[in-house]
Amino acid sequence: MTEPKRDFLEIDELSHAELATLLDTMVAWKVDPSRIRPALAGKGVALVFEKPSARTRNSGEMAVVGLGGHPVTIRQDEISIDHRESAEDVARTLASFHAILAARVFDHTVLERMAAAVDIPIVNLLSDRAHPCQALADLLTIRELLGALEGRRVAYVGDGNNVAASLAFGAALTGLELIVSSPVGYELDDLVVDRARNLGGVIELVSDPHEAVRGVDVIYTDTWTSMGEEAEAEIRREAFRGWQVDDALMATAGPDARFLHCLPAHRGDEVAASVIDGPASAVWQQAANRMHAARALFAFLIEGTV
Ligand code: CP
Ligand code: NVA
Repeated sequence: MTEPKRDFLEIDELSHAELATLLDTMVAWKVDPSRIRPALAGKGVALVFEKPSARTRNSGEMAVVGLGGHPVTIRQDEISIDHRESAEDVARTLASFHAILAARVFDHTVLERMAAAVDIPIVNLLSDRAHPCQALADLLTIRELLGALEGRRVAYVGDGNNVAASLAFGAALTGLELIVSSPVGYELDDLVVDRARNLGGVIELVSDPHEAVRGVDVIYTDTWTSMGEEAEAEIRREAFRGWQVDDALMATAGPDARFLHCLPAHRGDEVAASVIDGPASAVWQQAANRMHAARALFAFLIEGTV
């Protein structure tokens, strides 16, 4: 009997052991590309985007190429999910040509409907709820920066959004301690916090950003206004005043603290230019790691093993 297909809608679909091995594979293949297996030889991967992307599209395409496969990127104006035809029919169509269907969507339930409709793996390339491919790259980057994940401390300062949720689950699965500081009304969802704690995660919620970052190894932030929330940009800019990662916040963390951001960044809003462009920043290493993360993930989903 063949194994059931694996989807990747959120990082907690991986077990603790699978995630640890996946991270080992990312490191091994990054260090020694001769070890990469052509897991996608002769196969296609569909990459669907309802929203813009620089890193996810390019890292995804190059990850597929690295595994010997052929990526096809499709934009929303070409397929118009749930307008031209249903998410299920889009998925069924793409599944007849491709080995994996990866999609960036506004509504997370579109991914769930696709996953239920087809027998190929569905990968979340960002939804309103989660950004698990980003979290894989974040964990890889923190491991590279700090030598390990277990017991290290990361402060996430900003919006309790999709990126923060996936980071919380990834941290919980790897023993990384997470302190989250968000303005009132923009905190991580209680269900996310409960789920992270149920996975064994140490997650603290601290309202004062300076208190949150004291002594941490990494400060992480993301945009104050995610894609699809543009109408709220001015209200959010007011609400998040005081949550900018600036030199004072980095100094509170300590002289060795590093800075991460999933990008795209908005200098002068969630991060000061002096921080993101300064010596503590590892954002370009983090961006490059999107490809290493996606490559190991796609191989795992196709082969069912890491
Ligand atoms: N971090 C990230 O997902 O970037 P893109 O939106 O450019 O893909
Ligand atoms: N939270 C951001 C992440 C972008 C990569 C968004 O959803 O727009």
